Formats: sequence, structure tokens, C-alpha cells
Amino acid sequence: MSEFVRIPVLDAIHANRHHWTSRIPQLPFYTLGVASYLDAEISKAHYYRSAHDSRPLLWETFGWLYEMVASALSTHFKQTVVYDPAYALPGFHIFLAHPAFIQAIAAVHWDAQHLALDWSSQTDFARPVSFTLPITLPSKGAGLNYWDYEWQPDVPADAVNLKQILSALPTHNIEYAVGEMVVHSGRLLHQIAPAHEYQPQDERITLQGHALLSQGDWKLYW
Ligand SMILES: [Fe+2]
Repeated sequence: MSEFVRIPVLDAIHANRHHWTSRIPQLPFYTLGVASYLDAEISKAHYYRSAHDSRPLLWETFGWLYEMVASALSTHFKQTVVYDPAYALPGFHIFLAHPAFIQAIAAVHWDAQHLALDWSSQTDFARPVSFTLPITLPSKGAGLNYWDYEWQPDVPADAVNLKQILSALPTHNIEYAVGEMVVHSGRLLHQIAPAHEYQPQDERITLQGHALLSQGDWKLYW
């Protein structure tokens, strides 16, 4: 054996390309894994079934990554974290290069996907968490746009004039760094920031998840 060995750890994402789910017709945006904001929109039953079915492959392939994420978040929360098998494991957003991604095509939203799922009555909905762990980023970087406007659970979505809010408030941006997890409430208006440029070799792959404190544990899910 030679002194130096290269082991392509994250090639597992590409090696499992046949398990990627296309999420925007005509554009190279995929998920590896099951996302409540997408799959529970199809139906709750579809989400729970897909969450169950995808778990063995994801855990077998990325269990080491999930352990690291759990450890980091447990330290951050100062409480135990669990991957409750009822919910989908965190999964990956995968953007391959495309000129369209320079445009602001991603939805401006709050993270309200937990509303589409079933939770114990002992769940703290006042402190939701969303997290992003960049795995690989375009050469010019990538990040998140956000606006200082907080979700008000009592205000119905159709009573919110997004256009007016966005034109009145400055756009902030948080730049991602590979291997550095960004944790937030998901309750400020936000959006996947448009790509800075189009480079055919660029990829933007992030691990995505959410957490809710439920029955004494932070439950990590997607
Ligand atoms: Fe979000």
C-alpha cells in the first residue's frame, strides 16, 4: 500500500445518482432523500412511506455523517438529539450547473413544513430549527438570502403581501462555507440565493434538515 491513499467519501452522493429525485422539470435540481416540504405536499402518506423506504440506504451510506451532525447539534442545543424513525432523515439538495440558477427562481418562504406532519402534543413549535451543511459549493460560493420579517403563525399565508414586504426591506445574505453548518429558526423570510455565475463544472450540494424539541429530545428530520 502506498503512503497516501485517496478515499472519495462524498462521491457516494454521485454514486447514488439513480436514487436522486428530480424536483424541477427541465432543470438539474434534485434531492437525495425525502423532504417534508416537497413530499408531504404530495400526501402525508407518501412522505411517511418514502421516509421509511429511503432510511436504510441513507443510513448505510451516510450514517457517519448523520452521527457527526447529531453530535454537533447536540453540543449546540445542550440536549439529546435523535433521528426518530417516524420521520425522514436529513437529505441532500443537489443543484448541478445551469444558467437558470443565476435567476432568483427559488421560493421566498418560511420553514413551515412541520405543519404538514404529525407531532406529539409535547412538541415545542415555538422553537423550530433548520440547518444546512454545505458539502460542495460553486467556485464563486453560494448562500441564503433573508429578510428581517418573521413568520406570524396566527396570520394566514394569503393575508401576507410578500411583494410589498420584499420591496420595503433590504435583502440580507449569509454566505455558506463547505463543512460549516448554518443553523437558524427558519422563521425569517428566506430564499436559496441565486448562483453568482454559471460555471459548467459547478455543483451546489447541501445536507438539509430541521429539528423540533419533542418529548424531551430534539428530533432531526427533513
Ligand atoms: Fe427554508
